[in-house]
Amino acid sequence: MSEIIVVDHPLVQHKLTLMRRTKTATADFRRLAREIALLLGYEITRNLLLEPLAIETPLEPMQASRLAGKKLCLISILRAGNGLLDGMLDLVPSARVGHIGLYRDPETLQPVEYYYKVPEDLAERPVVVLDPMLATANSAVAAVDRIKRDGATEIKFCCLLAAPEGVRRLTTAHPDVAVFTAAIDRELDDHGYILPGLGDAGDRIYGTK
Ligand code: PRP
Ligand code: URA
Repeated sequence: MSEIIVVDHPLVQHKLTLMRRTKTATADFRRLAREIALLLGYEITRNLLLEPLAIETPLEPMQASRLAGKKLCLISILRAGNGLLDGMLDLVPSARVGHIGLYRDPETLQPVEYYYKVPEDLAERPVVVLDPMLATANSAVAAVDRIKRDGATEIKFCCLLAAPEGVRRLTTAHPDVAVFTAAIDRELDDHGYILPGLGDAGDRIYGTK
């Protein structure tokens, strides 16, 4: 059974509204993406395992807790995924980072891979795939296919906005992958854009249009 988690925290919803507005400037859009990523990351990391650790406070020894096992791996789907990466790294500074370069062919809406570099020991790490937009989910499915071929087994997908069509496609192709999003919008338009959406995430993060 797939898990879909819509993070409806008021701060997330408020910041998402600011991101959706056409008049929001590039610098603000980029900052908001980073801030929401940190807040989504708080939910995504909720089930990380802890182990006991004996420490000394200034007053006495105690049994405290620390994160157990191998460090998290964040995988950014370039280029818009990088808009979420810094916020997640603010939260988990020691995470490892992989990159998958994909762009969506505007005619076929199929992803085209142009870069791939991930840590070698993916199989031993919890993995979070980052991409602000889950539209048709062609990019997300291709990215998850790719990292599963390299051994990843414990995978979560983090986006800002999802279309119902994309959620269905990703959870059908990869029912083991939990999807975290700030909202599920109404539908896709004829060009595969999310409605009402926020436009082209990559262009808005980097000011390329
Ligand atoms: C956008 C977005 C996703 C993809 C989503 O990337 O960041 O990667 O589209 O669409 P899909 O769910 O239909 O595959 P884009 O191809 O515009 O590339 P960019 O990140 O380089 O701007
Ligand atoms: N990619 C985007 O950046 N925005 C959409 O609405 C769909 C795909």
